[in-house]
Amino acid sequence: MAAGIVVLGTGGTIAGTSDVAGANVGYTAAQLGVQQLLAAVPQLAQAARGPLRAEQVAQIDSKDMGHAVWARLVQRCLVHLADEAVAGLAITHGTDTLEETAWLLHNLLPAHKPVVLTSAMRPATALAPDGPQNLLDAVTLAAQPAARGVLAVGAGVIHGAREVSKVHPLRLDAFASGDGGPLGWVEGGRVRWAHGCAPQALPPAHAGLAGRLGEGGQWHMQWPRVAIVMSHAGADGSVVDALVGAGFAGLVVAATGNGTLHEALYPALLRAEQAGVAIRLASRCPQGRMLAQADERWADPLGLPPVKARISLMLELMARA
Ligand code: SIN
Repeated sequence: MAAGIVVLGTGGTIAGTSDVAGANVGYTAAQLGVQQLLAAVPQLAQAARGPLRAEQVAQIDSKDMGHAVWARLVQRCLVHLADEAVAGLAITHGTDTLEETAWLLHNLLPAHKPVVLTSAMRPATALAPDGPQNLLDAVTLAAQPAARGVLAVGAGVIHGAREVSKVHPLRLDAFASGDGGPLGWVEGGRVRWAHGCAPQALPPAHAGLAGRLGEGGQWHMQWPRVAIVMSHAGADGSVVDALVGAGFAGLVVAATGNGTLHEALYPALLRAEQAGVAIRLASRCPQGRMLAQADERWADPLGLPPVKARISLMLELMARA
């Protein structure tokens, strides 16, 4: 029998409902189970090119995403990816933190099969919900023999975990891939890669950490506390001092432009570093990539946006522990 697809449900607007018939806003996320989402799209059976299974990993609004759900999701992905009867995974997720989960999974999961995150901007009860088509596209992509690694699909556009970010609070095509553009598109049930073939999937930076997951999906260690501090007009160092006092192990600074800091933040960050706190700079610019200067002591080598730099720093601290 051909290998099949597993759909892991985590909640989000794609599983959301509203008491107001047809409403696009003012709904409650994470109300329908993943089995109900699958039942609403009969075309999934063919798109999967093999058996289709579903598993509810969590049922949350992704604004509330936390470490326990992440650990469980990573653990369930690892179990299914190791199964020869599974060709790929699709994950239903809220749009709000999808890019963070995508980056976490990209750093932890083996990249020999596709793991496709999808979501929706309108609840399942909307007049024209986008979730069913997005789910169909995700399963289509997960069943593509050439697809590898962690991908995201929404409004027919395929994004990579490194570049994907939510750029609009309402539009159906709420995600973008910055300067590089999308990796491809799912059109009429077919995948068209932007550069003619599926992109190469790099091995995960922190595969060893994933191996530390226990049976119940609990990491045998605390997730280090890493906060994001923004450099802005009128910034001062008291936020940094307070976070150090509260025991944070790392700080990512959402810096202006190409990594510049308000002068009032700098001494506080130096104090934090002397107290043993790890510091990373990320640009708060929504596009482009920070170009670190040779003498830049806190630059993030990957030039990640703040929310992804936070995840990388957290994983780095965990790997060191
Ligand atoms: C969520 O992120 O879970 C709610 C918002 C959405 O999915 O669009």
